Amino acid sequence: MENLKDNILKADTLEALEGLRIEIFGKRGILSKEFIKLKDIPPQEKKAFAQNLNEQKEKLQSVFDDRYKEVKKIEIENILKSEKIDVSLYSNISNKASLHPVMETMDKIIDYFVSMNFAVESGPVVEDDFHNFEALNLPKYHPARDMQDTFFCGDGKLLRTHTSPVQIRTMKNSTPPIRMIAPGSVFRRDYDVTHTPMFHQIEGLVVDKKGVVSFANLKSILIDFLQYMFGDVEVRFRPSFFPFTEPSAEVDISCIFCEAKGCRICSHTGWLEVLGCGVVDPNVFDAVGYKDVSGYAFGLGIERFAMLLHRVPDLRTLFEGDIRLMEQFR
Ligand code: DAH
Repeated sequence: MENLKDNILKADTLEALEGLRIEIFGKRGILSKEFIKLKDIPPQEKKAFAQNLNEQKEKLQSVFDDRYKEVKKIEIENILKSEKIDVSLYSNISNKASLHPVMETMDKIIDYFVSMNFAVESGPVVEDDFHNFEALNLPKYHPARDMQDTFFCGDGKLLRTHTSPVQIRTMKNSTPPIRMIAPGSVFRRDYDVTHTPMFHQIEGLVVDKKGVVSFANLKSILIDFLQYMFGDVEVRFRPSFFPFTEPSAEVDISCIFCEAKGCRICSHTGWLEVLGCGVVDPNVFDAVGYKDVSGYAFGLGIERFAMLLHRVPDLRTLFEGDIRLMEQFR
């Protein structure tokens, strides 16, 4: 029994201890074999033998338990030592941050228009009725106001429903020629797979002396821009209506998912609608006091572009802040 104790004290790994546990305390272990001897012991000695054996067993068990705790502690310390991380060590494997796909798309669009000599303008997010509607040829009670479900803030203020009010502010604060874009966030009471209450738009406006800027200029720059964004696509202009432009058009590109053959994403039309545009309505120039000028304007939703470029099926996921989504865009 003494050498069993020595063996336990000498064991220096949990594995060795487990071997000893089976050898000594196991079902067919040394102690079990000793207890089996009990049946051959004369009755009058049985009690003393059993008592002695139980004492030995208890002692060994307590030696074993103590050693087990010691070895376990040493092993944990060894693991901690071997897995220690020096946080001050330089590493070139780092978690790089990335641009949000909407911001990346916005930057790409801005880059194009800046390269075409457009200035980047901005305006307030909390707007007034005049800039968001009235000056854009959307008088009170005009049915076209219903096209945009507005958040009203009270005291005549509202959250801008589009970036078009920046047209008005820029025209009021400068003189033609004007060549500007206005990127920014806009707000509408809307929520489904392709709409969120906050999203981003880019507005574009070009104004010059009467006759200098035409619908042909608008067409050529938008075709070039859309091919820069989406590659070799066809572009078509469909007559449409916006209160601030006349004539107005909606612009489609040939479907980039099915090569215009027709698929679920293009609703089997072969076309994807991407922006609105037109020749600035004279009423808009009247509202800012401009005379003898002509111009064109356009507006687009950045999320729509980002969704098409990255094939995002549900716009809402872009705003949930789930880091796993962002990691896909790194
Ligand atoms: N403001 C429009 C919207 O939010 C987009 C737009 C369409 C802007 C045509 C324009 C334009 O400047 O000419 O839906």
